[in-house]
Amino acid sequence: MQFSRRSFIRILGGSAIIMAPIACSPGSEAPDPTAPWTDAVTANNLITFALSHALLAPNPHNRQPWMVQLHDETAATLFVDPSKDLPETDPFDRQITIGLGCFLEVLAIAANNQGFEAKIDYFPEGFNEQTLDKKPIAEIKLLRVSSLLPDPLFSQILYRRTNRKPFTEQQVTAKNLAAITEKTLGTNNGFASSAAQIEQLRELTVAAAKIEFETPHTYMESVDLMRIGSAEIAQNPDGISIDIPMIGLLKAFGIVSKKALADQTSSAFKQGLKQYSDAAASAGNFVWISTNTNTRIDQIETGRTYVRQNLLATKLGLSMQPLSQALQEYPEMQHLLKEAHTITQTDGQRLQMLARIGYAATGNASPRFPLSAKLIEHENNQR
Ligand SMILES: Cc1cc2nc3c(=O)[nH]c(=O)nc-3n(C[C@H](O)[C@H](O)[C@H](O)COP(=O)(O)O)c2cc1C
Repeated sequence: MQFSRRSFIRILGGSAIIMAPIACSPGSEAPDPTAPWTDAVTANNLITFALSHALLAPNPHNRQPWMVQLHDETAATLFVDPSKDLPETDPFDRQITIGLGCFLEVLAIAANNQGFEAKIDYFPEGFNEQTLDKKPIAEIKLLRVSSLLPDPLFSQILYRRTNRKPFTEQQVTAKNLAAITEKTLGTNNGFASSAAQIEQLRELTVAAAKIEFETPHTYMESVDLMRIGSAEIAQNPDGISIDIPMIGLLKAFGIVSKKALADQTSSAFKQGLKQYSDAAASAGNFVWISTNTNTRIDQIETGRTYVRQNLLATKLGLSMQPLSQALQEYPEMQHLLKEAHTITQTDGQRLQMLARIGYAATGNASPRFPLSAKLIEHENNQR
């Protein structure tokens, strides 16, 4: 379906979405990179309401790989933005696809809150297992259903975070772990059931972080995506935000810079690895998602499951952080990928997500591009 300029403006015109481009000319003020977290509720037509919530979904390295073509107030097509891929740590776009699954689930929850069911047709033109291509990821149609029960997770969308702070020693109850890992879609969900298994997973995730940090081709992929200080974050509200106290001074003196972070002998590099490892080592427990096969549909369903787990954890006052390093496909990680399956007793399946879960101080909202930056106006503009 071709989407005309007039209907594009009409659909957006009914909403309060910020339309300012994200890149700023010198001297102009960049938009607040966390504004999408408050704008979501003010979008006042159905499709922009659903999409404005969807773009708050978790996604790998905060690449926000989604692009959307609007058709009308109840229909849209989801595409991947191929420039947001992570070729070193996600060579087959497995994690990017999981992120798109998270997007679709949050969209469905938001639509449900408005009394609509999201009918989502995955990969209507087929898919490529090696890399995501320009074919649609999903056709979305929102259908009014009079007897729809409200999804209790809707209220958590604006409060969900990936929390990278150290967790306290407070234990997560077996009841909460069972609720969070309850089977809803086609994935298999698990959690660590003994102190020994938790300890093995702590050691695994710390070891995997060390490999990723110390392997230049994977670590440099992250360095390239680091946004240091509030001005850089506002100009590029994606990737890995570094906004610690006194960052202006640390940046001015070259103590924290991409160059310093890339240097494995620098204090910035050592501090970054220590912080990540200390967080992994403080895990109260771990939850995981595996699938019997590893198709694109499995990956989408993993994303849909993961974000529901993250939202339910938020509702229960729990924090989560995926620790994906051991699950990645590059050669240097293969022995730990195997070990991850052994520890979680998922041999023969594909472990798709592994996250620590526990109690921590509330995390900050991560930056987002506004919806206006993610819309494709015409089919011809796709790629
Ligand atoms: C497939 C996938 C893998 C992820 N892996 C990691 C990870 O290894 N470490 C981490 O800190 N966060 C990881 N995340 C979380 C993202 O970095 C996070 O969702 C993104 O930065 C946006 O932040 P938010 O979740 O707080 O909105 C992952 C998320 C997804 C969907």
